[in-house]
Amino acid sequence: MLGKTCEIDRMVKSMGEGVVMINKQGELAILNSMAKQALGFSSDEEVTIDNLVKYITNKKNDNFFRKGVECKEYVPIEIEVSNPCPHFLSAIQTLVKDENGEELGIVTILRDISKDKEINQLKSDFISMVSHDLRSPLATIKNVIEILLAGQAGEVTDAQEHLLKLADKKINTLNYLVADLLDLSKIESGQMRMEFALMDVVEAVQDVLTTLDKTVQEKNIQINANLLPRTPKVYGDYQRIVQIFMNIIGNAVKFTDNNGLITIQLSEEDGYAKISVKDTGPGIASEDVNKIFDKFFQSEKTIESSSKGIGLGLAIAKKLIEAHKGKIEVESKFGEGSTFHIFFPFLKMRKKS
Ligand SMILES: Nc1ncnc2c1ncn2[C@@H]1O[C@H](COP(=O)(O)OP(=O)(O)OP(=O)(O)O)[C@@H](O)[C@H]1O
Ligand SMILES: [Mg+2]
Repeated sequence: MLGKTCEIDRMVKSMGEGVVMINKQGELAILNSMAKQALGFSSDEEVTIDNLVKYITNKKNDNFFRKGVECKEYVPIEIEVSNPCPHFLSAIQTLVKDENGEELGIVTILRDISKDKEINQLKSDFISMVSHDLRSPLATIKNVIEILLAGQAGEVTDAQEHLLKLADKKINTLNYLVADLLDLSKIESGQMRMEFALMDVVEAVQDVLTTLDKTVQEKNIQINANLLPRTPKVYGDYQRIVQIFMNIIGNAVKFTDNNGLITIQLSEEDGYAKISVKDTGPGIASEDVNKIFDKFFQSEKTIESSSKGIGLGLAIAKKLIEAHKGKIEVESKFGEGSTFHIFFPFLKMRKKS
């Protein structure tokens, strides 16, 4: 038994991740060298339970490692450490219990995410730069095509008209892509402006269905929209909510084969308006389900039908939903279709006193 404890002790000490454990008496039971370094301490500096948070700049309270900061189990939070130079850690906390369910303490796993953050920032800066630089030449090209099509630069033959229309269609696709890239960079840099008002979810769904109607007809897809008679009102930015539904319902239409079925349902659940979009499309492989909300992710399995996009729709939708304090969930089995559930909180009415 003692041998096993020694082995575990050695394993924890040599882990590449920082490990901190505070026992139920509130004492520092484990602090491996990675944790010491991650928390900003030099190797000869003494760490005690009272100075454990000495170099953390965004701590909400000094009991951080004991109780956690508003921290749900397994949900990583970001902490900022000032020493020896500013850096960022991801912290995941878990309550450790014995076989009888008695609390043994709180364990925190720390990982340095400074490099990841730096890379993400570089990616965002790049996206923002490229999309800004693409926008104005694209607008000019579109303008030129329109002038030519209108015959303002001379008579246009049928063959020329056909080619110009094709070019115009491709420019539109590019414009959508650039708009998505710009939206993403605005959301990521916190510059997305939203205009919140009390709005009708059903109307937004219907707007989207009208826009998609042509493709739906072409693919002979049946849409069963069960929209509640009592319209749930949520507090949101109407255009952004339309954009969210456009991405989710648009995906269902894009990935569902001809003659498929899409079912849209509205319900209320735990203070949320819930919109479920179910399709009879290809479904999502289990190894991909957690990745579909990552930007630029497109499943190998749907790569043909997704060739019309770049894998930004769901990343944008998720961020916009979160900006509405909502959430999105997906249920899917490969080969059996997918269901996306979108939740928007109902506006809480303040009671009149
Ligand atoms: N309803 C669905 N059925 C099957 N797979 C889906 C569905 N919705 C999304 N996916 C998978 O998730 C990936 C990411 O979706 P997302 O909307 O972000 O990108 P996209 O539709 O490929 O491109 P974009 O939205 O930028 O035009 C898709 O490429 C596809 O593999
Ligand atoms: Mg999409």
